[in-house]
Amino acid sequence: MAIDIDTKIIGLIGYPIGHSMSPTIHNALYNRLDMNYIYMAFNISKDNLHRAVEGMHALSFIGFNVTVPYKERIIKSLDTLEKESEIIGAVNTVKIEDNKLIGYNTDGMGFMNGLARLNFSPSGKDIIVLGAGGSARAICVYLLKENPKNIYILNRTFDRGLALADELNKTFHCNIVRPIKMNVLDNLKPDILINTTSVGMYPHINDSPLEKYDFHPNTVVVDIIYNPHETRFLKEAREQGCRTQNGLAMLIGQALASIEIWTGQKISYEQCQNILRDDKIFIDLSI
Ligand SMILES: NC(=O)c1ccc[n+]([C@@H]2O[C@H](COP(=O)([O-])OP(=O)(O)OC[C@H]3O[C@@H](n4cnc5c(N)ncnc54)[C@H](OP(=O)(O)O)[C@@H]3O)[C@@H](O)[C@H]2O)c1
Repeated sequence: MAIDIDTKIIGLIGYPIGHSMSPTIHNALYNRLDMNYIYMAFNISKDNLHRAVEGMHALSFIGFNVTVPYKERIIKSLDTLEKESEIIGAVNTVKIEDNKLIGYNTDGMGFMNGLARLNFSPSGKDIIVLGAGGSARAICVYLLKENPKNIYILNRTFDRGLALADELNKTFHCNIVRPIKMNVLDNLKPDILINTTSVGMYPHINDSPLEKYDFHPNTVVVDIIYNPHETRFLKEAREQGCRTQNGLAMLIGQALASIEIWTGQKISYEQCQNILRDDKIFIDLSI
């Protein structure tokens, strides 16, 4: 697709953004679906963050994605936040509209999109979340909206898990988010077990967030890591009879949610998968 005077620009800011798949995914979709948009990534140093946001605004960008390490810090440069992103306290998508910058968080939306693909409803379920970082927070907020029975948070730094649980219980006026320690794990039979830690991510592909764990075959196991395609954690779960899902579902889900926010256009997951497969952007698109 030719770039012309009407081409709308969408940005990605972070530091470093060198590893991001987003420009490839977004530009492939815009190109193949004849959408007159271009997606550009910018490495922005901390001192230039606010100036970069003002620059994108001045240059009539229609919006931008925000990645590590600015998902929280960006908030003070925005005018308003959509409800969930305010609760999460982090923004990965900004829409620029009517001279206003509006913050969203599509990580949780993308994750829920992945669960829907598994036909898994969190309602009334026992859930274990490994990790208590930014993605765990976004995922827990969206899970809590579906009324799960319990969410157990197991984090390397227990106090961080405790702080997240306290905050979520307070925000959602409930008492179902429980920080746990490793020794409790074997007594639980979760309906779903979600890894949100970075353990097992390339290049540390022989690591797993759970060493010597006996998975329950009825547990659905999700790893939000997508590189490697199947982490050691997911492989062990699959070999022990669990239904599994990797991080591609969330990655694609959050990109499609951002596109809908910026352009109003709904692209189906299947349509996206076909384009990414045809363009050979991912060798394996199974989830
Ligand atoms: N699929 C997607 O679309 C998608 C979207 C967002 C993120 N992700 C992936 O999700 C992962 C986490 O991202 P994030 O933004 O949530 O990161 P984050 O905020 O930095 O949180 C990292 C989490 O991992 C834990 N952790 C890190 N190293 C560990 C280790 N060696 N042993 C045990 N726990 C460890 C941390 O525990 P402590 O609190 O103890 O430090 C923390 O809970 C990354 O791999 C990222 O690529 C995927």
